[in-house]
Amino acid sequence: MNHAKIEKNVGLLGVLTAIVISIGGLVEIVPLYFTGQVGQASPGVKPYTALQLEGRDIYLREGCYNCHSQMIRSLRAETERYGHASMAGESVYDHPFQFGSKRTGPDLARVGGRYSDEWHRAHLNNPRDVVPESNMPGYPWLATTSVDADHTAAKMKALRIVGVPYTNAEITGARDTVTGHTEQEALIDYLQSLGLASKTWVK
Ligand code: HEC
Repeated sequence: MNHAKIEKNVGLLGVLTAIVISIGGLVEIVPLYFTGQVGQASPGVKPYTALQLEGRDIYLREGCYNCHSQMIRSLRAETERYGHASMAGESVYDHPFQFGSKRTGPDLARVGGRYSDEWHRAHLNNPRDVVPESNMPGYPWLATTSVDADHTAAKMKALRIVGVPYTNAEITGARDTVTGHTEQEALIDYLQSLGLASKTWVK
């Protein structure tokens, strides 16, 4: 009887559905706050350097995440290709994280160290020069545009507020660190840092 009433009243059905989903969500999410594990950096995971941080922003600006995820799922096909499933502690300093789910290209969570800087330069300028069948667009202009050094320190300060442990020295030195670098150098520095820490503790 009650069930039939709920099914015929779409507003009530909506509210009750929302309540049930919220309970399900809370049961999954709230315990994570108390394990202390998810907010803690995994061994060796460090905040991005000033240049890597700028590289990451270029990654966001260019929309690389539209084709690349940065999360290895705990499925055999994934762990055999990319290594151990991604851990929460690997992305504690990522604001916002780049997990994603769209994979036109491969997952990049552990791409650091997989190729040389020279390979990345060639690949970013024209992917087909190194991977003939690639349908990734080229980003040749990044080789000539300079990193914008004006906001790096402010970005680091903002990240410190949300828990990234940047030191005062790192923040004041940010401008000097990134000045004179091309956007391509920053982006490659970022790509080469991805998943490096995990190489010491996962296969
Ligand atoms: C339209 C989709 C698309 C976009 C956008 C895209 N990529 Fe790709 N990417 C691919 C594909 C497909 C491959 C696999 C073929 C290849 O290596 O070029 C790839 C491969 C890569 C690889 C090599 C990964 C590996 O493990 O072999 C890197 C690194 C990479 N992309 C970085 C980037 C960066 C950085 C950007 C943004 C500046 C970007 N991609 C934007 C589709 C894309």
